[in-house]
Order: sequence, then C-alpha cells, then structure tokens
Amino acid sequence: MRALSCHQPPHLVVGRGCLAECAPQLAEAGARRAVVICGATRSSVAEALLDRLRVVEVAAVLWAEIAGEPTIDDFERALAAARDVGADTIIGLGGGSALDTAKLVAGLLDDPRPLRKVFGTGTLRPRRNRLVCVPTTAGTGSEVSPNAILLDERDQSKRAVISPWIVPDATYIDPLLARTMPRAITAATGLDALTHCIEAFANRRAHPLIDEYALAGIRLIGAHLRRAVDNGDDLEARDAMALGSLYGGLCLGPVNTAAVHALAYPLGGLFRVGHGLSNALMLTHVLDFNLAAAPERYATIAAALGAGPRLCAVDSARAGVERCRELTRECGLPQRLGELGIPRTSIPQLVDSALTVRRLLDNNPREVTAVDAAAIYERAFGPYDSARC
Ligand SMILES: [Fe+2]
Repeated sequence: MRALSCHQPPHLVVGRGCLAECAPQLAEAGARRAVVICGATRSSVAEALLDRLRVVEVAAVLWAEIAGEPTIDDFERALAAARDVGADTIIGLGGGSALDTAKLVAGLLDDPRPLRKVFGTGTLRPRRNRLVCVPTTAGTGSEVSPNAILLDERDQSKRAVISPWIVPDATYIDPLLARTMPRAITAATGLDALTHCIEAFANRRAHPLIDEYALAGIRLIGAHLRRAVDNGDDLEARDAMALGSLYGGLCLGPVNTAAVHALAYPLGGLFRVGHGLSNALMLTHVLDFNLAAAPERYATIAAALGAGPRLCAVDSARAGVERCRELTRECGLPQRLGELGIPRTSIPQLVDSALTVRRLLDNNPREVTAVDAAAIYERAFGPYDSARC
C-alpha cells in the first residue's frame, strides 16, 4: 500500500438541523467578524445564519453575489468585501461555486499575491482566519476538499488551487438545507458526487482507504439519487445523498478525479454549462472509453450500483455504465451536448482545452489522446452506439 496523505476538516458536523450548532461554536472559538459568502438563491438560509451569529455577538455581513460558475472577478469582489470588514471568519454557504470562492478568500485574505500567481498545487501559505463551509447541495464535495476551481476569464479555462490551507476548519452538512434544492440541481450535483466516487475508485492513484469511501458513496447515491430528485422532501434520500456527497468529497484531496472531469471542464469554461451537468453529460461516454482498461474496477463499481453481475468483467462493467446512463435519463437531465446549444464544430476547441487538464488526465485508467478526446466528444453529441464485449 502506497503512502497517502489526507487533509480533512478537523471538525465535521453531520445531520439534520446541525447548522444550528454553527453560530454558538464559532462564538466559542473566538470568532468576532464573519463574512458569509453565498449565491443569491441561498440568501434566505444565509440570513438565518447571520441572525444566529448576531445573537451570539459575532458581527456578520452577507456577500451574496455568486451567480453561476465563479470567476476571478467574483473572487476579487468577495475578497474585497471580507477585507473591508476585517473578517476573522469566512463562511461559504451554497454549492461548489460559493464554497470554492470562500475557500480562496480565506486562503488569500492576508496574502497580497493575486490569484493568478497561486494557481496550481501547494502555493498557498498557512492562514490565520477561520474557514467554515456549509454545503446546500449534495454535491460538490468542496466542503471537505483541498481543491478550489474558478473560471479564468482571460482564456475561459477552469483553473485550480490545491492546498491543505483551504481545507475548512469546520464543515456543517445539514441534509435539511437540500430539501428546497430544485430537481435539476439535485440531479446534476448528485451525478457530480457519483462521478467523484467512480473516478476515485477507477483511478491510477486509487488507494484502499479511499476505495472504501468511493464504494460507500456509489452505493448511497446509486440507491437514493432518483428518490431525492423525485421528492425533495424524502429526507431519508436527502440524508443518503448528503453522506454520499461527503464520501465523494473525501476522495477528492488524496486521489481526485480523472478524464470525466477533464473533459467536462471545457463545457463550463467555453459554454457556461454548470459543473454537475457537465460531468453528467460526459460521464458515460468516458466510462465507455475507459472500461476495457480496468474492467475489474468498473465491475466492482457496477456491483455497488446494483447492476450485474454478468458473465465476464467487461460485461459487468458495461452494465454499470448502462446503470449510470439510466440514472441520468431517469433524473431528466439532457443526454447530448447539442441539447445545450453547443455546436459540434466546437470539438477541436473542447479537445484543446481538455488536454490542458493534465493533473486529472494523468489519473485516468486509460491514456486519452487528442484523437480519443475528439471521439468521446463526438459520442457525447451523437446517439449512443454500444460496442460489444
Ligand atoms: Fe466535480
């Protein structure tokens, strides 16, 4: 077993209603001035948190200007707001966009370097402020990971900062917050979480410790995503999705994702397709491409999804991919890139952009060349035509 280094939030609070514990615990930890960073659509949850913070005498302001995938400009405005009030505590509340922005604000609050200077791995310095994440989707996994991804407007590419110093000090995972999440967001973010687990399990850097998280996440999400999509008030399903998303997030730091994410990023960068939906659109096409390179791993994933077993590992693996395909269909998500107005003529541009995401392509169980990537995008545009075992 290879050596593995995991950075996880030291304080993890999980369960229905647990957000109520956030304000008193922050006050006890000595917080004085907090900024809550969130998207406009979650501001009512954030306002309730602000009220609780004021009750315990933590001055708190709201910065609720995240709309869609976050950009460097969003980050700079959020950072300025946090510096303006002399924040000692940064709280990210929402989906991955709000959480990633909050993590970077915390990471650079006392650091004069511009964000573009710290893109990459291991570039940040230890921080003095407190960072709290409260996910309202299930999800991104950002609430427990050392990763943050933003859109660089200069070249429309997704850029990452990866550092143990942006792992939150505390994370509150309250399934009740997901109850009002719209059906499409539940579906897209749930498939993102499933993708985290699948890509961590079938990964060149897979590790036995993380395998257990990944399989637990696949089982939970495979069994409950449809229920959560069909009935947002199904709290058992919301609980399961919150846990599945958490397990997926715990896979991100130590192992991370692979070619599904690498090929999904350009859809967000070039065409502003949301992160979860981008992954959902690419998932089965990349798995079709990958499965012959690691049939046993994909057969295990299929079993965790409740698909198969078949006579040979490749057929079992294929049954798992079919289950994923069914799941995206059942959840009502678009099946083809053309449905989002993306032109087929953009394939060369998508390929060029995807091939720059080496940090993830290098994790993939099968090498992805430019020709391969173009063929995968072609499949994502056109009707599925299953090859036989
Ligand atoms: Fe993701």
